[in-house]
Amino acid sequence: MATVSRRGALVGGAGGAAALSLSANAGASAPQPGQALAADTPLVSLSDYEAAAQKRLSPAAWAYFSGGSADEITLRHNREALDRLRLKPRALVDVTKIDTSVTLLGQKLPHPILLAPISSHLLAHPDAEVATAKGAGLAQAILVASTVSNRSIEDIRQAASQPVWFQLYVGDDRGAVKALIQRAEAAGCKALCITADNPLAYARNREERTKAIQPQLPFPNLGITAGPGGRGQSRRHFNWADLEWIRSFSKTPIVLKGLINPDDADEAAKRGVDAMVVSNHGGRVLDTGPASIEALPLVADRVAGRVPILFDSGVRRGTDIVKALAHGASAVLIGRPYVYGLSVGGPEGVQRVVEILRTELEGAMALTGKTRITDIDRSVLWPGA
Ligand SMILES: Cc1cc2nc3c(=O)[nH]c(=O)nc-3n(C[C@H](O)[C@H](O)[C@H](O)COP(=O)(O)O)c2cc1C
Repeated sequence: MATVSRRGALVGGAGGAAALSLSANAGASAPQPGQALAADTPLVSLSDYEAAAQKRLSPAAWAYFSGGSADEITLRHNREALDRLRLKPRALVDVTKIDTSVTLLGQKLPHPILLAPISSHLLAHPDAEVATAKGAGLAQAILVASTVSNRSIEDIRQAASQPVWFQLYVGDDRGAVKALIQRAEAAGCKALCITADNPLAYARNREERTKAIQPQLPFPNLGITAGPGGRGQSRRHFNWADLEWIRSFSKTPIVLKGLINPDDADEAAKRGVDAMVVSNHGGRVLDTGPASIEALPLVADRVAGRVPILFDSGVRRGTDIVKALAHGASAVLIGRPYVYGLSVGGPEGVQRVVEILRTELEGAMALTGKTRITDIDRSVLWPGA
């Protein structure tokens, strides 16, 4: 196995999460990924973390984390479609108190930001998902731990002080799937987040180009060693009958992740999933499909409140969260941004990324005149948005 160095360690550590800054060269105030910044420039936005992470990660790790599928049209579209939506400002509302708490699957959370399942955190930090779990604790965020983590689900759970959900890839071997679910449940995971949108790796060209320099990583949940992302087992078989089978014995709520087509969402609601995630896997599955935010209102209309809906793919600002909640989401997940936080600042970097987003969410709520999450509805969207 290639070694992964501790390049993702704390920068400017003494001041803690609030003092994270970039040790690089001179630059400007609104950086793009890869753009150089002065060493003492504070990291104040998620794009700052992205730019800082690009400098720290190996080329193979950067290609793995940042890439999408094929021509990355859907990857770009996730951001463009969120940016295109306009919010409607609201004046003269008393916004002294803003409450970002939400209740999800019966649990009260201080904010609606979850950490999406992402594989291969060892590329970003030597303590891999154990460091992420600590960061999730600091951020008071639910971590959805990937099947293809570099640390076992037991180790991740042990490091966590906030609830952990287990993301499940349903491989073709039912015995292995059942054993994994039972391990996750025994470890104390609070939900099973079953990924529906990724039966195979479709044209991951950016990753493929770095194949020769990819390290081999351990994937203890599957008992394999492989390149970033794992992919030791076939999961092409997974269908609705398998979902029914899992429901027949699993003890934890089921969250179905990766729905874009309203017909699929309708089917999932009929089959009694406990929640669903509208997601296109951060633009890593079907390229030229719609942006996740374009699918969200269609799915929400079709599901019509039967099942809570979560949203991911492209969330980078507090305003993005308001837009997702306006279109029917109960909460959002972030993927790449917290991994960039992990790479730049370890657990405190994860914490800082969530804090930035949460602060922005409060600001965006205040400026749209909403003081509680449940008050956010389509009235915050500018007509035609
Ligand atoms: C590098 C990478 C690895 C991922 N690994 C998984 C995974 O193991 N399981 C899964 O369900 N989703 C996985 N996803 C998808 C994320 O859970 C999430 O849907 C996506 O990252 C959200 O988009 P964002 O990165 O723009 O926030 C991965 C995404 C990335 C970028």
